[in-house]
Amino acid sequence: MIQTVRIGKDGPEVPAVGVGAWQWGDSVFWGYGRSYGRAEVEGAFAASIAAGLRFIDTAEVYGRGRSERNVGELRRRSDAPLVIATKFAPLPYRLSARLLGWALDRSLRRLGLAQVDLYQIHWPATFLSLEALMGAMADAVEAGKVRQVGVSNFSAGEMYRAHAALARRGLALAANQVEYSLLHREPERNGVLAACRELGATLIAYSPIAKGALSGKYRPGAPPPGLRRFAGDFRGGGPKRAERIVAVLRRVGEAHGNSPSQVALNWLIGKPGVLAIPGPKNARQAEENAGALGWSLTEDELAELDAASEL
Ligand SMILES: NC(=O)c1ccc[n+]([C@@H]2O[C@H](COP(=O)([O-])OP(=O)(O)OC[C@H]3O[C@@H](n4cnc5c(N)ncnc54)[C@H](OP(=O)(O)O)[C@@H]3O)[C@@H](O)[C@H]2O)c1
Repeated sequence: MIQTVRIGKDGPEVPAVGVGAWQWGDSVFWGYGRSYGRAEVEGAFAASIAAGLRFIDTAEVYGRGRSERNVGELRRRSDAPLVIATKFAPLPYRLSARLLGWALDRSLRRLGLAQVDLYQIHWPATFLSLEALMGAMADAVEAGKVRQVGVSNFSAGEMYRAHAALARRGLALAANQVEYSLLHREPERNGVLAACRELGATLIAYSPIAKGALSGKYRPGAPPPGLRRFAGDFRGGGPKRAERIVAVLRRVGEAHGNSPSQVALNWLIGKPGVLAIPGPKNARQAEENAGALGWSLTEDELAELDAASEL
């Protein structure tokens, strides 16, 4: 039996491992078009679908629309019942919540969809009111262009405000997408995981293998190429901490015949209401990520991983 999770209280049920598509178009951070490209992404899509994965996450800002376009083109070739999520970027120069409807239309066009399953505010807005944005989201739901409303990088307090604003329009907050992994357990401490459970919202865990740091292929002194080396997990004390956790992931994984990435993902999806969205660059990574489904860590192994990843 594979682990599944429902999106919000009444949304679709999907395998608890989904697919992150930031890599499917972004060249600045991930090197799309340089170290890999469309052919590898096609392989990642095909392998994900073949393995039964159904939830795909993209955003208008990923590769400035290229990720959404790639998802749209690949989606059209498949008859699998996919659940597509994308995001509105509250960029500082977007000074009216009404721009959400305009941006949504452009995302729908790139995705080739009349309705997106989950539309998320990518991060809390600096200038736009949260309530006005939720009003624009509710308008989009009423127009039939959005099935469920989500947020991303929201605190617990912001989630409750978003939920209350949506409730005034007869809607509920379906998800908060935040960074969550064995290297980033903040959602357990900052109230976000608890708020998700209280509100019936799905916690969508991004960077679930810590941008590759939990895969075990990068070591202190051997960071990944490009801009990624400047991300927190690859700087300062990050690599040493990752190395300690990867040692436990390897040992635990050997007992099950699973890789460190698969163990890191399995630890996440063992938590009720958590959907992990690793970002595969190719078919091999997609297959490996899907291999986190269908088995479970023991209580002792979970406790060992919890202890190794405590700050
Ligand atoms: N809402 C937000 O603010 C936000 C922020 C970040 C991400 N996200 C979403 O979350 C998704 C995933 O997060 P992420 O991309 O930051 O990090 P991630 O999934 O933790 O790591 C992805 C990277 O790890 C490597 N990798 C993936 N699968 C692997 C495997 N099985 N074995 C070994 N290496 C593997 C690949 O890079 P290499 O092969 O080059 O090492 C890949 O690009 C994104 O695609 C995006 O949809 C959302």
